[in-house]
Amino acid sequence: MIPFNRPPYTGNEDQYVLASIRSDKISGDGFYSRQCEQWFQAKLPCKKALLTPSCTHALELAALLLELKPGDEVILPSYTFVSTANAFVLRGAVPVFVDIDPATMNINPDAILPAITDKTRAIVVVHYAGGACDMDRIMKIAERHQLSVVEDAAQAMLSTYKGKALGTFGDFGALSFHETKNFTSAGEGGLLIINRESLIDRAEIIREKGTNRSRFFRGMVDKYTWVDVGSSYLPGDVQAAYLWGQLEDADKIAASRMRCWQRYERQLGMLEQEGYADLPRFTSESNHNAHCFYIKLRDPESRAGLITYLKNAGVLSVFHYVPLHSSEAGKKFGRFHGEDRYTTRESERLLRLPLFYSLTDEQIDYISEKVRDFFSSENKKNQ
Ligand SMILES: Cc1ncc(COP(=O)(O)O)c(C=O)c1O
Repeated sequence: MIPFNRPPYTGNEDQYVLASIRSDKISGDGFYSRQCEQWFQAKLPCKKALLTPSCTHALELAALLLELKPGDEVILPSYTFVSTANAFVLRGAVPVFVDIDPATMNINPDAILPAITDKTRAIVVVHYAGGACDMDRIMKIAERHQLSVVEDAAQAMLSTYKGKALGTFGDFGALSFHETKNFTSAGEGGLLIINRESLIDRAEIIREKGTNRSRFFRGMVDKYTWVDVGSSYLPGDVQAAYLWGQLEDADKIAASRMRCWQRYERQLGMLEQEGYADLPRFTSESNHNAHCFYIKLRDPESRAGLITYLKNAGVLSVFHYVPLHSSEAGKKFGRFHGEDRYTTRESERLLRLPLFYSLTDEQIDYISEKVRDFFSSENKKNQ
């Protein structure tokens, strides 16, 4: 069976994980955590990068820093993972879902403006499949209405918009190092990117249980104490050590994924040309990171047919997301503003094919052949 995902692993990770285990400090903010954070600060670049146990936690930390009050509203796409909404619902905020652009599956900027009320506090965008949202327009709307912007860049590490890294446009960006992402910190992990200088100090405090421990370690205070609300939003250093192994091989991992993505595109381009299916689309300003390769079929029935066809051929394919506004919790905590013209329709057509670091050319060719076979057998049936 060709799995849908295999966690990225280059062999570089072992030495750092072992070194971390054998060191005297394996709790958070140790040697490897610092190495990783400095790497992001220089590479993206960004003002401050803080490792978190997951992207979910990074989003929660952002929501805490925005000081949202019950009843405040945040505007976000319905086509996203639950954490994009949950982080704000935990603060009592109301998620106001809006429609997507069917080409990119990203939030439609035209849908944001009519959803703004006097309770709106933030716009939360998701860079789906590592493709950039229209950040120029979104930042302009946010500025005009004095709204904060949070970028859920869970899938978008090292993607850019007009040459600038995703996650570095809004007040905050959040990355994921879950095992299904391009880079992983041993299964789970995340990063909060802080682009507003004035929020950095408080972010460090909230992340360290509401204490000024980070300032203490930097020698800025002579004892540390409880100074604010907080929680524990820092991962252990062994996880960071695993991630460090991957960051040292970042170019290799990124190139391998892009090779896979482009091979799929070459092998399956004819499906789009012949009108059988749509392939991923990105705007010309967006440089994507080959996070996922999907195809969009005619309807949910043909998608179910292809999933079964591939499964019988030994290939696992998956779909996501069930639009949040149609979920039990989405109905309870939030609302959809405007017309759901594309969110439900497009989400029901989308199917993701296996794409991971160690996927071989032969496997891609085999999967592509099976996908093409499915469409030609469907075509024959309909004749
Ligand atoms: C758009 C989006 N946001 C947030 C998350 C949550 O990431 P994590 O598992 O690191 O908490 C995911 C996970 O798949 C995601 O796809």
